[in-house]
Amino acid sequence: MASFMEKLNKPCHIVNSVVELCDEIRVGAAAAIVAEEAFRGNTIELLQPVLTQQPSWSDFPLLLLVAGGRVTVESERLRKLRLPLGNVLLLERPLRPETLSSTLEMALRGRARQYQIRDQMQQFERAQIAMRRSEKLAVTGRLAASIAHEINNPLEAVINLLYLVRADVSSPRAQQYLNQAEHELARVAEITKHTLRFYREPNQLVPVDLVAVIDSVLTLYHSRLVAAGIIVNKQVRTGAVSVLTSPGELRQIIANLIGNALDAMRKGGRLVLRLSQTTDRMDATPKVRLSIGDTGHGIPKEILPTIFEPFITTKGETGTGLGLWVTDEIVKKNGWTMRVHSSTHPDRAGTVFSLTMPFCV
Ligand SMILES: Nc1ncnc2c1ncn2[C@@H]1O[C@H](COP(=O)(O)OP(=O)(O)O)[C@@H](O)[C@H]1O
Ligand SMILES: [Mg+2]
Repeated sequence: MASFMEKLNKPCHIVNSVVELCDEIRVGAAAAIVAEEAFRGNTIELLQPVLTQQPSWSDFPLLLLVAGGRVTVESERLRKLRLPLGNVLLLERPLRPETLSSTLEMALRGRARQYQIRDQMQQFERAQIAMRRSEKLAVTGRLAASIAHEINNPLEAVINLLYLVRADVSSPRAQQYLNQAEHELARVAEITKHTLRFYREPNQLVPVDLVAVIDSVLTLYHSRLVAAGIIVNKQVRTGAVSVLTSPGELRQIIANLIGNALDAMRKGGRLVLRLSQTTDRMDATPKVRLSIGDTGHGIPKEILPTIFEPFITTKGETGTGLGLWVTDEIVKKNGWTMRVHSSTHPDRAGTVFSLTMPFCV
């Protein structure tokens, strides 16, 4: 056999037992040629777990040299045992060398394709990890920009107020300016406190107060809401509810959804945030539902089925098309559900995302 393989110019290992064969398959053999006598007794059973536990890309080719002639009790027994082995090519002896070589060539070509699929799958996985990381950075960057923007407004107010105080320290209005400056500084402190609270424990699962997360995201978007003339309508129809999750992730979801709603309402509108209890039809457990609705331009029918896919954006340069994809990933990871309804009809244009989660009181 070794000289035959040498003629074919293929590297090969001769093994003397099924155990050794299994080891070779595990370390990366491309195909195996086995005479069926090797499976005498129950040795074929050793091969079964190795072949049934192959990764999804793999379908290991096994060339089995069977004895020609009549069907015997032994040949029937082996036939049944090899059924679960998958990619088995039977070659009846006596065998012409070119039959063996062409079958082997075919098996190796198939195996090479499998390796290509494996490599593509690995590449795809690496790309997904990189994309997730880049969206995290993009979200962090956008949040940093929002925070800087939010802090800048009250700071400018403070600088102006101090200027007025310095101009006339003794005037009765000076007291009023100082009070106002104090108030603006308190707002700055509030923004930084909110931000820090949500970034201190990034990945631990803790009970997170939903209303607190919503409020902190609203604090962050405060001046964008005011500048765009958007009315916020917050309806809390539950007692205090907490969700067991990582606070940073829940905040990321809510910031993404509210951010998209604001993007859709450049010329004013209404942002409705509704928190209500609901019962899951599947497992009858009480859940909390957060709906985030806007009166923006709505999502066109053509792109609605694809919005959770990466890189789908209608915002040109300013969009990444990764926000909803990451949001969906986090939702799935936590075992929550998310639904979306949207209309572009001029009379009732708008979008509602609703998120359903189990809660702890
Ligand atoms: N509330 C919404 N109203 C209208 N369109 C939306 C809304 N939310 C999402 N979309 C649409 O879905 C697309 C994908 O959103 P997203 O994944 O967050 O990416 P991005 O915001 O970077 O474009 C958006 O470009 C927009 O067309
Ligand atoms: Mg977005």
